[in-house]
Amino acid sequence: MKVVVYSTKQYERAYLEKSNRGKHDFLFLEEVLSVKTVELAKECSAVSIFTNDDASSEVLKQLANLNIKSITTRAAGYDNIDLNEAEKLNLKITNVPEYSPYAIAEHTVAMILAMNRKIVQADRQVKNYNFALDDLIGFDLHGKTVGIIGLGKIGSIVAKILNGFGCKLLGYDIEQNEALTKAYGMEYVSLGKLCKIADIITLHAPLNTNTHYIINKENLQLMKKGVMIVNTGRGGLVNTADALDALKEGKIGYLGLDVYEKEKGLFFYDHSRDIPQDDLFACLLPYKNVLITGHQAFLTENALGNIADTTIYNLDCFQKSEQSLHELTGKKPAVRV
Ligand code: NAI
Repeated sequence: MKVVVYSTKQYERAYLEKSNRGKHDFLFLEEVLSVKTVELAKECSAVSIFTNDDASSEVLKQLANLNIKSITTRAAGYDNIDLNEAEKLNLKITNVPEYSPYAIAEHTVAMILAMNRKIVQADRQVKNYNFALDDLIGFDLHGKTVGIIGLGKIGSIVAKILNGFGCKLLGYDIEQNEALTKAYGMEYVSLGKLCKIADIITLHAPLNTNTHYIINKENLQLMKKGVMIVNTGRGGLVNTADALDALKEGKIGYLGLDVYEKEKGLFFYDHSRDIPQDDLFACLLPYKNVLITGHQAFLTENALGNIADTTIYNLDCFQKSEQSLHELTGKKPAVRV
């Protein structure tokens, strides 16, 4: 089956080809899926996309016109796909719900530690033969209160790791998981209470209409002065302009972002020679207490292998007219067959 793979990066091709074992005929494209590039999918049976590809209503309609019947995203999040439109067009949408929650959870903790212990700054100083410790004072994570927003696969692992550090854990989720309370002493609280009490707040909820800008001016006002906020979820969970104001006021003491609300077209590319005009992003860069990685929390060998395996499984299911366990449209089977 001919499959067009949008937003392909060199590093993932080898994993996809290995998992594919020659079954599907891949057309690897660096281009992002959009109204401008949708035509490149013609004569293909299925489309593979990633987080910053545009699978909005208009693009889906055009893909359906090209006789595409299946779209599989090489990601867990699917906020870039209009599922309602896909249902109407009878397009099968699949994702990779769990490729390595450890990858994202561990990156989250790496950001917390790096900001707290000023690892980036320390390394820069040492390489400049500056061994003065004056600006490098951190705090013990042990005993700190961490608020976790979204306690699904990734949030639960963050809870497990931070419990190991001796942190007190607060959780906010629309569904409560008693196992987390039993295992790690997780206390489920309201969003307001979490904002008021937590020393560190980390975001692991999906982006949807309920979670868009869940970190905003109002919630920021509730927080402790000097709070640390880490977002490895989706950029739109944080109102960046509000966060920038809170940084200026010293309300936010540390801001760690692996995702950014306007990352589309910015992240995943080398823009060192064509610096994009994004004043909001540019304003964040000079802050020593802001740590930004470009949507790399997922990027481990294990995760890339699992993404490739599940993507091929999703494509195989479509080709064999079988229902994938990871179908976002249509009815899910109870067990994997
Ligand atoms: P999951 O579906 O296992 O967990 C999400 C949790 O959020 C669930 O417990 C759910 O009940 C909760 N939730 C949903 N709506 C909520 C709301 N309104 N308020 C509070 N909690 C709410 O998802 P998983 O695998 O843990 O991933 C979470 C998110 O992480 C993904 O949706 C994706 O956006 C992001 N992600 C980021 C990656 C990166 O490389 N930076 C890679 C993979 C995922």
